[in-house]
Amino acid sequence: MSDLKPAEIVQELDKYIIGQKKAKRSVAIALRNRWRRQQVEPELRDEIAPKNIILIGPTGVGKTEIARRLARLTDSPFYKVEASKFTEVGYVGRDVESMVRDLLELTVNRLKVEENEAVRDRAGQMAEDRILDLLLPKSQPVKPNQNHDAKETHFELVSDRGPDTSSSTREKLRQMLRNGKLDNRYVDLDVTEKNIPVVEIFSNVGMEEMGINFKDMLGNMLPKNTKRRKIKVPEAMNILTQEETQSLVDMEKVVKNAIEKVEQSGIIFLDEIDKIAGKDGGHGPDISREGVQRDLLPIVEGSTITTKYGPVKSDHILFIASGAFHTCKPSDLIPELQGRFPIRVELNSLGADEFVRILTEPKNALLLQYIALLRTDGVDVVFEDDAVQEISKVAEDVNNQTENIGARRLHTLMECLLEDILFLAPDLEHKKVVIDGKYVREKFKNIKDNRDLSRFIL
Ligand SMILES: Nc1ncnc2c1ncn2[C@@H]1O[C@H](COP(=O)(O)OP(=O)(O)OP(=O)(O)O)[C@@H](O)[C@H]1O
Ligand SMILES: [Mg+2]
Repeated sequence: MSDLKPAEIVQELDKYIIGQKKAKRSVAIALRNRWRRQQVEPELRDEIAPKNIILIGPTGVGKTEIARRLARLTDSPFYKVEASKFTEVGYVGRDVESMVRDLLELTVNRLKVEENEAVRDRAGQMAEDRILDLLLPKSQPVKPNQNHDAKETHFELVSDRGPDTSSSTREKLRQMLRNGKLDNRYVDLDVTEKNIPVVEIFSNVGMEEMGINFKDMLGNMLPKNTKRRKIKVPEAMNILTQEETQSLVDMEKVVKNAIEKVEQSGIIFLDEIDKIAGKDGGHGPDISREGVQRDLLPIVEGSTITTKYGPVKSDHILFIASGAFHTCKPSDLIPELQGRFPIRVELNSLGADEFVRILTEPKNALLLQYIALLRTDGVDVVFEDDAVQEISKVAEDVNNQTENIGARRLHTLMECLLEDILFLAPDLEHKKVVIDGKYVREKFKNIKDNRDLSRFIL
């Protein structure tokens, strides 16, 4: 678990997100609190529940962005999901428990990749030895698949053969293999072919509650067909490395670690929570909104969820919810759910000053992106300071006049501003383009002041 101090977390977030100090602070505190909890003695530790957070703010001010960056920053299991995706149990759609399952699935996969990485060298060596066995059959050839379970004995066999001439031949062959001199040779290899039916028999939706994946199950139940095939050495090397990796990675341990990680430091980001708030209109899919909130309760409060890897407790998972709450307020959520999210943070709407910084400061700033894109066509674009000011001003104006879509306005503006250059770039004669305030004003002159036009274009 990451032991970044709150100030360090904020500092990292600052690299990508402008302003929104309060929101950054509270997610940083929440994160640090997980770490603090880990340091408390066990009896009390179990009593300390996470304080869930709701981020409230208009659209396009960085709510999702904060979550995304947070995910990369911590090595806690992190899963982001739209609350609007869920439906009440019994309706068509995903049930809320699936988010815990998905979080676990994600974590298991991540840990598996890490484990694979850790044994890669050893698996490679073992595969190499097996290839050599195939290329240089011994007097009593050992079939790779039979000795697969009894690797120990197999290696004794290999080393038992004594330091006769064959071992030096073997080393020569090993060198050739490593240098790619054997890449065109073929070896006979028993490959397993899982016969997964081409047709999808079940859809998984209904089975989700049980956390059973039929494809996996069928895959394991069907008889494994092994077939002897002639395979080129590099491909055989891949297949064998994979086999060896699988045998070296202790999946039980991976799963156990994953479950523990999820239970102790998992974070679920519930985006668009306002979409399940609000009084039911009484028609259409709205009917299940409150139901979804009720389904959410036990998970947020802490309950045990059945997954295909075993039961997972959600007691200490941190939930960060976010929503624009345009048409409704947090108080429109059912009271029980409000109580589960004690920390409310408002994000500010953005103005021209912030836009200037958003355009230029973040590591992935929009202007940098366009500069990099156009450089691939050999064009050097330079944005003068007054151009940046002007763009930000226009963004603010258009946000005020039409709908306030926050920093997303910058995206539409930039596309419109650079359209000609993006189109002509490969054929431009002057490979250097300077964008100044005048250029920006010219470009937006007619559009900006015409409400209808700007509604469509910007
Ligand atoms: N404060 C900010 N600093 C830097 N970039 C920002 C900021 N706010 C928004 N952006 C940029 O604007 C875009 C939209 O932001 P984001 O997805 O975070 O919006 P949101 O707050 O989640 O909105 P919604 O309520 O519509 O989901 C992103 O590309 C993001 O990089
Ligand atoms: Mg969002």
